[in-house]
Amino acid sequence: VRTLKIGLLGCGVVGGGFVRLLASDRERIASRYGLDIEVTRILVRDLDRLRPGVDPKLLTRSAIEVIDRECDVVVELIGGTASASCFIRRAIDLGRDVVTANKALLAERGPEIFAAAAKRGVGVGFEASICGAIPIIRALQRGLAGDTIERITGILNGTCNYILTRMERGLSFDDALSAAQEKGFAEADPTLDIEGIDAAQKLQILAELAFDAPVRRQTVTGIRAIRTADIESAVRRGKTIRLIAEAQRVPGGVELCVEPREIATDDALARIVDENNAVQIRGRAAGELLLVGKGAGSLPTATAVLSDVMEIGSRRSARATAVAVA
Ligand SMILES: NC(=O)c1ccc[n+]([C@@H]2O[C@H](COP(=O)([O-])OP(=O)(O)OC[C@H]3O[C@@H](n4cnc5c(N)ncnc54)[C@H](OP(=O)(O)O)[C@@H]3O)[C@@H](O)[C@H]2O)c1
Repeated sequence: VRTLKIGLLGCGVVGGGFVRLLASDRERIASRYGLDIEVTRILVRDLDRLRPGVDPKLLTRSAIEVIDRECDVVVELIGGTASASCFIRRAIDLGRDVVTANKALLAERGPEIFAAAAKRGVGVGFEASICGAIPIIRALQRGLAGDTIERITGILNGTCNYILTRMERGLSFDDALSAAQEKGFAEADPTLDIEGIDAAQKLQILAELAFDAPVRRQTVTGIRAIRTADIESAVRRGKTIRLIAEAQRVPGGVELCVEPREIATDDALARIVDENNAVQIRGRAAGELLLVGKGAGSLPTATAVLSDVMEIGSRRSARATAVAVA
């Protein structure tokens, strides 16, 4: 069994979930995959906050202590872009592999981070940054690598989907938004969600992975203008409204569109309710695939983080074995 040391940045919703998930699955992973994953240090802002299941001795307020201290993988779960990008760059420069759930950072600085990682010969795992528990990055990078993707259509923002499906049940937009905020789905400032920007950022990342072609056109419309009456009228006609994100191959590139759409109630995407996400992929040879699941939340998102960590661990083990054989 090989030990994989993790420097963890952030112990909030996802970071705390990661620590708890690892505690429950560490033995299974060690016996099945030959990997003993150990968190060596955890960066937080507030040392006094109660964190059930987290060893307080591991907590520190110093990022340097986490990144520079001996570790194999730095897992970034603090969110935001300024500090997160400095910490990730430092980790890469020190030769650490990196795992992040930070979609905003990848949308802003992805190419720069991937270039630095490639130059230093380290990996960057980002499965958790899009659609939480749904393994969409892996599906596009590996599972469907043997096909030409024609189109991706999805419900990529759980907050908007929660609001729209609550409005279907008669709530006003404002009340549905407040309910989403109370449940912790929406940000205190939910502009990125309801203006469609969050979905557009995710779509852009998926399109880069799936199409590797220039963006010819991009349109983004959120759900702020949708009223309960619009949904009631759609339902009377056997339809409903969902915020749909779609990337489509067109001659010479790809077109990206995020917009509220009326869809038939028997459409697969109409059946996606509350904060769930879905991604429908059309492959030239494979035909239609549909992935559905929890797009956010503590443990669901933590599974994606842990899977990335395990993949990096397996790659490291394979490299070490190859060197030993040589
Ligand atoms: N929540 C989800 O369901 C979800 C789903 C997919 C992706 N994500 C992404 O995952 C990342 C983390 O989200 P989250 O919901 O877990 O956030 P969160 O609950 O706010 O947790 C952030 C953690 O990072 C720490 N932190 C933040 N800034 C820091 C700084 N400058 N220095 C030291 N520590 C700092 C906080 O410390 P304190 O605890 O001391 O405040 C906290 O432990 C984000 O990039 C988010 O977009 C989240």
